[in-house]
Amino acid sequence: MLLKVLGTAAGGGLPQWNCACPGCTGARAHPERRRRHASLAVRARAGRWYVVNATPDIGDQIEGATELHPGPGARQTPVAGVVLTDAELDHTLGIARLREAHDGVDVLATAPVLDAVREGLRLDAVLGPYTPVRWRELPAGAGRPLDGDSGVTVGAVPLSDKKPRYAADSPDSEASWSVALRLHDPGTGRTLLYAPALAVWSEAFDEAAREADCVIVDGTFWDDEEPLRSGFSTRTATAMGHLPVSGPGGTAHRLARLPGRCLYTHLNNTNPLGDPHAEQHKHLAEWGIEVAAERMVIEL
Ligand code: MLT
Ligand code: MN
Ligand code: ZN
Repeated sequence: MLLKVLGTAAGGGLPQWNCACPGCTGARAHPERRRRHASLAVRARAGRWYVVNATPDIGDQIEGATELHPGPGARQTPVAGVVLTDAELDHTLGIARLREAHDGVDVLATAPVLDAVREGLRLDAVLGPYTPVRWRELPAGAGRPLDGDSGVTVGAVPLSDKKPRYAADSPDSEASWSVALRLHDPGTGRTLLYAPALAVWSEAFDEAAREADCVIVDGTFWDDEEPLRSGFSTRTATAMGHLPVSGPGGTAHRLARLPGRCLYTHLNNTNPLGDPHAEQHKHLAEWGIEVAAERMVIEL
């Protein structure tokens, strides 16, 4: 299974367009610190790639990945579709940018997420006149082939009922509003678990994480008080639906015990890990955990 990291920042990106915090200012001064919105491309089978979460940066992300470039036909693209982990705007706004798709596009998500993007964001009605969008329900559990009837399989591990603000009135309150994706290659027998928003470390998530060869998880905030300290929020990281990296309720000590390779993604611009010289990187190295890099290739 071939995976390409397309972006590693939380909503807003690094830098965020209207933010002059130290992290964003640092990324403006040092372009190598820039991070695009968290996204991942997975090769489902030869010549067929799916983008996990369609971010506002999707155009640049496709241009930055030669694997996703069009050709040899004039409007032939290896980008077959999109898989969503949730309905948040930083993970869904890019769907509309695929409106030029010549042969349409597949969008896979759980039932409440499909409903939010089709009806809440009105993408069904809005995109219909441009390109056929095939809305497909993402299976829970072990999963099904992502593309056709062979190759990489995809399955969802329900995580939480955290809904985007625009869907706050939705009556759905299932744990499938926010899921981890389990991508498995039956050829190599290897599995990736991808969870850019992790509100709770549930028993089901723990089991999936222990079975995975590689785990890429929510690294939005370094510690629980970070959003309060920055002055941008009145809620802790946990209350915002993002378990922090460090501290007793953090994810680092749990990741450190897993057998597979572990990386953080979805870094907020307040996260000290955005600065490559921050001492927090030493702690991660001691725990044997990495921070996903832009354009990183992972082969499983
Ligand atoms: C999140 O990750 O919590 C969301 O993207 C936040 C938001 O966009 O409002
Ligand atoms: Mn987000
Ligand atoms: Zn900022």
